[in-house]
Amino acid sequence: MKIVDHDPDTGTTQSYAGLIERIEILRSTLHWATSLQRPDIEKLFRQAGALRDEVMQLSHRERFVKAAAAEPTRTERSRRDRRQGLIERSFIFEGTFGENPRLLESLEIAEKAAPTGLPVLIDGESGTGKELMAKVIHANGDRADRPFVSVNCGAIPENLLESELFGHRKGSFTGASGDRKGKFEAAHTGTIFLDEIGELPLAGQVKLLRVLEAHEIQRVGSDEPIAVDARVVAATNRDLRKLSQEGRFREDLFYRLSVIHVTLPPLRERKDEIPLLFEFFCDEAAEALKRRPIEMSPPLRRFLLGYSYPGNIRELRNIIYRLSCLAGRMADLEHLPADIRPTPPVRDAIAAPAGEAHAAGPAALGEAKRAASDQAEREFLERALLEVGGVVTELARRYDLNRSHVQTLLKKHGIRSKDCRNGNTPHH
Ligand SMILES: Nc1ncnc2c1ncn2[C@@H]1O[C@H](COP(=O)(O)OP(=O)(O)O)[C@@H](O)[C@H]1O
Ligand SMILES: [Mg+2]
Repeated sequence: MKIVDHDPDTGTTQSYAGLIERIEILRSTLHWATSLQRPDIEKLFRQAGALRDEVMQLSHRERFVKAAAAEPTRTERSRRDRRQGLIERSFIFEGTFGENPRLLESLEIAEKAAPTGLPVLIDGESGTGKELMAKVIHANGDRADRPFVSVNCGAIPENLLESELFGHRKGSFTGASGDRKGKFEAAHTGTIFLDEIGELPLAGQVKLLRVLEAHEIQRVGSDEPIAVDARVVAATNRDLRKLSQEGRFREDLFYRLSVIHVTLPPLRERKDEIPLLFEFFCDEAAEALKRRPIEMSPPLRRFLLGYSYPGNIRELRNIIYRLSCLAGRMADLEHLPADIRPTPPVRDAIAAPAGEAHAAGPAALGEAKRAASDQAEREFLERALLEVGGVVTELARRYDLNRSHVQTLLKKHGIRSKDCRNGNTPHH
């Protein structure tokens, strides 16, 4: 996280973007100078020295911020405490679920950033909740009751981009049949969410940069400047730093947008959230579809707990809605979309008609029995673990089993007791 703030001693604004601007000024002074006298050299030397000092200060501060983030008291605080802390400080979650430490960290940054009005850049894969996070930032700031205007920079044809963002005057181009307000004007006093900012063409980037610097826009076909005060939150699933190194994204714009930088981790790196999200979306889908929440068969639950979700939370949500639509009371593997549905070998062994995959006879019967027994064992363990919230000792006590035997069985079936924790109870 980088925060621009005012240094009361020197009265200068410290930020990488600010520094780069001043280095550019220095460079162009040198570029256009035809001859330099000693006093000019002294002056440039002093300016370069001041810049070096500021870079060092920024780097010290960054190290300080990192060290503070690594403080044991903070990382060791339990998830519950951190989430509870946010609740007690009246934080608005806007429906954001989960208490994975990395998500909590993002929420805590959002909490601090929200009231400042500073630009925020959110990055993360598609479906990780970037737009939701932008809404969280808006909702927790003092612009919460002002407009939140969302623009998908990747979805607007290049020739309409300027008019879409800044509006146009009647007749300024073919098809401009009347005066029209752009998104920036619509977001005046509120927040503008620039989604997929990495897709913005270079020409658009230059114009955006100018607006961010001057806080005013001009409608296409008009030279009258209009003051706009819109808080900017941008999102991308690209690596903007890399794009800017490749010359495809302006570095100065990157620094302007990323004063505060929030990265949302992909779902596969916060799998501990999955059971909670199941519950949330099962209930949500039930309400939307006016039905009772589905239950998941143990094999389905096990599959979904282990699945990698390339489409992240959006994909998980879509899967749950699909299951809720297609399944009766109990959803099973067969209700999954065909492209991710596993072919369960155990089922095949049981269901395989004689003479097909397996030869008929005593061997096939024995195998089918063993498979059925294995499956029953696994389903029992999964159900029982869910009942006891993943506590193996309690499972052993309740069913009068030896604890180490239970451990052996769990290992045999590759079941991890901690997958059944966190209130991951089946629905009724
Ligand atoms: N932590 C979360 N808790 C609950 N719902 C979430 C969470 N993160 C994302 N979602 C939901 O997942 C879907 C995709 O989120 P979105 O913000 O559109 O992702 P992105 O903009 O990164 O593609 C939305 O329906 C959103 O409400
Ligand atoms: Mg999105």
